Amino acid sequence: MDFITVDFDKSIDRSAFDCQLHPALNTYIALHAGQDEKRNVSRTFMYVEDEVLLGYYTLANASVALDELSEEQKKKMPRYPMPAVLLSRLAIDKGMQGNGLGQRLMSDFFRRVYTVSKQSGVAFVVVDAKDQDAANYYRGKLGFVPSTNNPLRLVLSTATLIQAFKTQPAG
Ligand SMILES: CC(C)(COP(=O)(O)OP(=O)(O)OC[C@H]1O[C@@H](n2cnc3c(N)ncnc32)[C@H](O)[C@@H]1OP(=O)(O)O)[C@@H](O)C(=O)NCCC(=O)NCCS
Repeated sequence: MDFITVDFDKSIDRSAFDCQLHPALNTYIALHAGQDEKRNVSRTFMYVEDEVLLGYYTLANASVALDELSEEQKKKMPRYPMPAVLLSRLAIDKGMQGNGLGQRLMSDFFRRVYTVSKQSGVAFVVVDAKDQDAANYYRGKLGFVPSTNNPLRLVLSTATLIQAFKTQPAG
């Protein structure tokens, strides 16, 4: 299956994007994502329909310390800081929220994590939620677990998702 998002494209109009709840996520895509691309600080992927930006997410690398993990996540893991992919931003335009697009972008993101994991170690996926409501979104069906020292930083082991992609039929 192909990705449903495209690489950051500055020719797509980003000024009208509005996720309503967090203006910082609107400002980021309109003004800062391009700079971060140039500096290799992060990569942003856009979901576009008919030239209209409807959602985006941003990835960077991170590391997770053992003491941030739940007892379950700690099992059999090394004591030193472990490599992770950080989902630093995720936003859907207000007109599209609640229609499953967030879920589809998360699947797209997990597919990218799987791609990265074939070239380099990725033990965890980390998200920094903007508020408790967003944290609940990641905790719900997505199965993220709050870090032990920051309830708005959530962590997911990649073991299950990598295994799921590995056993998926190609196509
Ligand atoms: C949070 C956000 C990314 C979710 O995307 P979305 O397209 O609206 O969500 P979906 O339609 O894919 O929802 C998937 C499921 O998660 C649930 N969900 C959505 N928001 C939720 C929340 N805040 N808490 C708990 N569950 C939530 C939905 O009810 C849905 O469950 P269902 O399939 O049983 O109905 C989007 O609403 C958004 O951009 N919000 C503003 C910006 C933001 O908060 N970004 C995250 C900050 S880090």
